[in-house]
Amino acid sequence: MYRPAARLAEIAPFHVVELLTRARQLEAEGRDIIHMEIGEPDFPTPAPIAAAAIAAIESGKTLYTEALGLPELRQAIADFYRQRYGVSVAANRIAITNGASGALNLAFACLADPGSEWLLADPGYPCNRHILRTYEGRPLSIPVGPESNFQPTPELLRQHWTEHTAGLLVASPANPTGTLLTPDEIGALAAVCREKNGHFLVDEIYQGLTYESEMATACAAGDDIWVINSFSKYFQMTGWRLGWMVIPEAYVRDVEKLAQNLVLCPSTPAQHAALAAFEPATITILEARRKEFRKRRDFLGPALENIGFRVTARPEGAFYLYCDCSALSEDSFVLARELLEKAGVAATPGLDFGSNQPEKHIRFAYTTGIDRLAEAIERLARYFGR
Ligand SMILES: Cc1ncc(COP(=O)(O)O)c(C=O)c1O
Repeated sequence: MYRPAARLAEIAPFHVVELLTRARQLEAEGRDIIHMEIGEPDFPTPAPIAAAAIAAIESGKTLYTEALGLPELRQAIADFYRQRYGVSVAANRIAITNGASGALNLAFACLADPGSEWLLADPGYPCNRHILRTYEGRPLSIPVGPESNFQPTPELLRQHWTEHTAGLLVASPANPTGTLLTPDEIGALAAVCREKNGHFLVDEIYQGLTYESEMATACAAGDDIWVINSFSKYFQMTGWRLGWMVIPEAYVRDVEKLAQNLVLCPSTPAQHAALAAFEPATITILEARRKEFRKRRDFLGPALENIGFRVTARPEGAFYLYCDCSALSEDSFVLARELLEKAGVAATPGLDFGSNQPEKHIRFAYTTGIDRLAEAIERLARYFGR
């Protein structure tokens, strides 16, 4: 008997993972594939973090921790907010989670009533919609485009808000566009959510990976905002599965109860490793890598535009260029397949990020070295006969 829960019908696969599988198949057949579909840094986890993990394991720090995480890691994150962003966040409001994914699971498990409606930008990171759906909430799209730099505005928010709306989730920097919300824009969105008595969640997973301005944090815009973060991207710890969430005080106990039941605790060795993430030696490594990401972005954007892609979002953060490819193809999904099979370049079709003109868009991640990016550009130019 095969009878999955009805909600499964509304949970789409993550197409990029399927594309990656095909890319790996081609590689197994001996083809050289340039990976620009992957949303994770190509740099290994910085050595001080890895060393801290090894030391923790060797000294037997491998048992469960508190459900909301090691108190010293929660404190280290609070200190980081104070030192780097000048914002005071009480350590007891910080939950350590299994990545930003774990944080979003806990947030929606805590907040989403069955049928409650939540506004999310489209295009946007797809898993968040599906996590929400898993908890019986209803994700509703705010279609966004170049006119608002692919971010929701207070006007759009008001237009889409109904009596069933429970809240808004944004990401800054965003995936797939790399666009940012300024502190003023965050403040204005928070004000509308407050006025409507709704929740406001801000996914800051790409915090630290910004190339034009120093990032702020939504924590500065009010202690009623749920702020999601991760060690995956800036700290380059994707596979360690560690993140955190800043929770409005009134909900800390609720999230703790959920964490106790759903996950027991985040990975203990990963938490000990993360204690080294904020050390000056680690930050020096990470800042050098941030410069490298910036160089890649500055190379790739103009090079793609020369071929006929248009970068319509201002990519000030993360490591993605979300391109309008309508001058080159009628269907970005077909194009992504063709580029993989014929040019050996893997990129992610718009389809993964929602239903707002996905066929016109394709995402290139600059998560590979500049020499490989240059090779990818040559292959693309050849493919399009430029
Ligand atoms: C916007 C956004 N949020 C959340 C996640 C989840 O990441 P993780 O669970 O590794 O922290 C990702 C991963 O790519 C993302 O792009």
